[in-house]
Amino acid sequence: MKLVKEVIARFPADAAILDPFSGTATTTLTAAERGNSALSFDINPFLIWLGNVKCRSYSVEHLACIQDDARLAIGRVPSLIKNDNWVPPLFNIERWWSAGTLQVLAALRAGLVEVFGEPTEDRTDGLAWVAFCRLVIETSAAAFNHVSMSFSSETTHHEVEHVTYLYLAILDAVLASGSAQLQGTGEVVEVDARAIPKMGRRFSLVVTSPPYPNRISYIRELRPYMYWMKFLKEAREAGEMDWKAIGGTWGIATSRLNEWGPNSKVLPEILTDTVGRIAESGGKNAPLMATYVHKYFYDMHLHLSSLPNVLEPGAELHYIVGNSSFFGNMVDTPAILAASMQMLGYSNTVSKIIRKRNCNKALFEYDVSASWPG
Ligand SMILES: C[S@@+](CC[C@H](N)C(=O)[O-])C[C@H]1O[C@@H](n2cnc3c(N)ncnc32)[C@H](O)[C@@H]1O
Repeated sequence: MKLVKEVIARFPADAAILDPFSGTATTTLTAAERGNSALSFDINPFLIWLGNVKCRSYSVEHLACIQDDARLAIGRVPSLIKNDNWVPPLFNIERWWSAGTLQVLAALRAGLVEVFGEPTEDRTDGLAWVAFCRLVIETSAAAFNHVSMSFSSETTHHEVEHVTYLYLAILDAVLASGSAQLQGTGEVVEVDARAIPKMGRRFSLVVTSPPYPNRISYIRELRPYMYWMKFLKEAREAGEMDWKAIGGTWGIATSRLNEWGPNSKVLPEILTDTVGRIAESGGKNAPLMATYVHKYFYDMHLHLSSLPNVLEPGAELHYIVGNSSFFGNMVDTPAILAASMQMLGYSNTVSKIIRKRNCNKALFEYDVSASWPG
């Protein structure tokens, strides 16, 4: 975040900024707050929706209106508590919420739908749904750690009064964050970063934090929100979506790797060495993990080869990435990405360590920068 701010600050306030891997749209929002015009890409419909809700400008009156409407929805909750409200088809849902809490959440969701309608891109009151997303996690038994997710052994029963009180408290915080006035503009659009089309718009700065080759799946953590918001309807969809995601590893995204092979073999030599070392390491599923790493960098190479479609000559790139380790074999992410950039005609590639990510292993975060000569 600090690095993103520093990089953006070196550019003029009218510079167009791109983040091809939006996530929660922090880069785009930071750029829009500073006055730039910013665009970001993602393939996850929930994140696209969330990013656009966050990047909208809200007047004080509009925020007050959302709050009033939310109170209206809250007022309806007691009469909406019943057994046949819609609940998300989340696997093992009883591990997330007690039956009683689930009933209250489902009633609150029904009340919000009555007042705000389902969360869709065309609505301007999405902040009410952002607060609901936070509420479902706040009331759940799940704990999100960096690499794993765990559940407490028991779910807690939250009474109606507690859930509605919590919702309004969260909504207050969400509305307060929405009151920051944007000097510039920010938008998130659905684009697969591996095949960026020409779009009549070019960017002089790309700042992004792409997925890392570390088998962390964004879908895994986002599933509860995506089911509650109806951006996911069945388990299979999550695997399909993660197959499109660079470094995706959820469900069928991993089993499909068995049949995967690159179309083009023109990839950096350092990648071939890395993949070979992992494949021959003797680790559990070593060939599959080697293919995982191969595909990650193959996809990043596709991304970097289509990126010039939207770059100004002289554009500057900053990729915040982490290295990883498979069976003791280091995957030197910054070096492999820099090699891809050089092969594709980018210049001035430099990689700098930003911070250490792990006390025991040599895992770091880097800023890999380059420029596009045009
Ligand atoms: C590390 S996260 C971005 C984190 C972000 N900087 C933030 O602050 O939230 C990577 C994002 O890349 C997205 N992504 C993965 N594969 C993609 C693809 N092929 N095209 C576009 N976005 C993709 C994922 O959905 C995820 O949101």
